Amino acid sequence: METLVIDHPLVSHKLTVLRESSTDSPTFRRLTDELVTLLTYEATRDVRVADVTITTPLAPAAGVQLTDPAPLVVPILRAGLGMLEGMTRLLPTAEVGFLGMARDEQTLQPATYADRLPADLSGRQCYVLDPMLATGGTLAASLQLLLDRGADQVTAICLLAAPEGLQALDRKLAADPAHQSHPRVRVVTAAVDDRLDENGFILPGLGDAGDRLYG
Ligand code: PRP
Repeated sequence: METLVIDHPLVSHKLTVLRESSTDSPTFRRLTDELVTLLTYEATRDVRVADVTITTPLAPAAGVQLTDPAPLVVPILRAGLGMLEGMTRLLPTAEVGFLGMARDEQTLQPATYADRLPADLSGRQCYVLDPMLATGGTLAASLQLLLDRGADQVTAICLLAAPEGLQALDRKLAADPAHQSHPRVRVVTAAVDDRLDENGFILPGLGDAGDRLYG
C-alpha cells in the first residue's frame, strides 16, 4: 500500500483552520470541500485517459479524455458525504456508489448499514472518500467490499490519518493473498497525525468530522 501525504502550503493552511475548535460548521464544510478538491488533484494523477484527436477552430489537435467506464467514487456515510462535491467538481462524469458505515464507540469495529455499490467492479478505478482514517477498520472493510467485487485500483482520500491505522491497513492488505493480484491500493491524505487516543480518536486531529459537518 502506498501512502501519499500532500505537502502544500494551501493544504496545510486549510487543514489548520479546519482543526481549530472554534471553526463553525459552515466554515468546516467549505474547507472540507476545498481540501478535497486539492487532494483530488493529486489523487487523480493516474486516472485513466485515452488519446483522442479533436479539432480546434484552427486545426486538429491531440488530446486525452477519461476512459469509459468513468471512475467510481464512494463516499463513506456519513462524514464522507461532505467530501463528495469537492471530488465530483473535478470528475463530473464519475459514477457514485454509497457505503454507510458506523464505528461502534466501544469496540471501534465498523458495521455496514448501507451498501449501494455496483455488483461488478471488474477492472474499475475507485476512489473512497472518508475524512478520518483512525484505527483503519472502516477503510479496511470498505476496501474489502470493493476488491471482492473486482476493483483493481482503489485510492482512499482522507483528510487525516493516524499512523496506527495506516500500519494496520498495510498489515491487513499484506496478509491477504487475494491482494497480491490487485495492482494498487493508495491512501492520499493531507496529514499523518501523532497517534490515536484511548477512545480511538486521532490526536491532535480535528475532533469528530461527522459531528462537525452535520451536528
Ligand atoms: C468516523 C470516520 C470514519 C471512521 C474512522 O466515522 O468518518 O468513517 O470513523 O474510524 P476507523 O478508522 O477507526 O474505522 P463514524 O463511524 O464516526 O461515522 P460518521 O461518519 O457517521 O460520523
